[in-house]
Amino acid sequence: MTFRILGTGSALPGRVVTNDELSAFLDTSDEWIFSRTGIKERRVCADETLDDLAEAAASRALEAASVAAAQVDLVICATSTADHLMPAEACAVAQRLGIRCAAFDVSAACAGFVLALDVADGYIARGRAQHVLIVACEQMSRVLDWADRSTCVLFGDGAAAAVLGPCAEKNPLAMRFSTTPEVGTLEVAGMAGTSPFLVGTRPASVLRMDGRRVFRFGVAAICDEVEALASEAGVGIGDIDHFVFHQANERILAAAVKRLGIEDARVARTLRETGNISSACIPLALDRLARAGKLRPGDLIAMVGFGAGLDIGACLLRW
Ligand code: UT7
Repeated sequence: MTFRILGTGSALPGRVVTNDELSAFLDTSDEWIFSRTGIKERRVCADETLDDLAEAAASRALEAASVAAAQVDLVICATSTADHLMPAEACAVAQRLGIRCAAFDVSAACAGFVLALDVADGYIARGRAQHVLIVACEQMSRVLDWADRSTCVLFGDGAAAAVLGPCAEKNPLAMRFSTTPEVGTLEVAGMAGTSPFLVGTRPASVLRMDGRRVFRFGVAAICDEVEALASEAGVGIGDIDHFVFHQANERILAAAVKRLGIEDARVARTLRETGNISSACIPLALDRLARAGKLRPGDLIAMVGFGAGLDIGACLLRW
């Protein structure tokens, strides 16, 4: 347990898509979407690529950390919607920034950023890396079924990054990752391809989800993980300054706030303007807090990501 976050950055596409705009081609309304999810609008890639967003977020994080690209000795991208099936999105980020070191992706959907922290922690602890660049980036718009109102209104595109460096004290204070294997609950099937040997048809590569199941799973994940993080670290939940949870639905956040009895103002929110950007939600919220000057040295931050897998990643970090 050996790192701290030196700087963060983020980048969103320029195109804003409002709920009213979706209502023009879907049987939905701003009233339904906002009251059921807390989302007003989302950003969607039009002329940007995911490589563009990932590069911009990474550059901003390096600048905030005062770390030169040449000092980075590991690049990890968390994504499920990369510009390339191969190589890893991290290779594109390394190429754009002129970084020569190990570069690979981790795939854990909405828990991906926390998994990347966990992997980086191991590299730093084993002396394999000193400065790690993590970029969580998603172009959810490419895997959505834009005729399915129950899913496409929920997601958006974007990227957020963090630069990690070694730390003398024990930090993070607790780190957890788990999987409850349930592939069909939230899934994007792989590309069908054009093999002449395939028998039968394959499902389209679009997102399918049992929303109610994920909702229940999400509330339980946040509550159980916050309690486990606090107990592992030997701190009270009341000692935690900021709660940065995955941004899936405002009602999930509200239910968790109520069940945990935590102060609502300590819970980060980006959902209203961005929708769910999967792995990028947590680092985007961190970047917003950092740039607003709300993170003071020594502050305790609890992060919980949950989603497809069904995966949960949780981390209690000192800023
Ligand atoms: O990263 C994790 C990703 N997963 C999630 O974010 C999923 C978490 N789950 C949720 O956020 C909620 O379960 C949803 C927002 C997906 C759905 O909310 P709900 O309150 O559970 O609604 P529901 O699925 O029970 O649907 C209620 C009604 C249905 O109509 P009927 O059958 O009652 O006539 C739906 O067809 O709402 C209808 N509906 C919509 N109506 C207008 C579903 N989507 C829409 C829509 N606009 N966009």
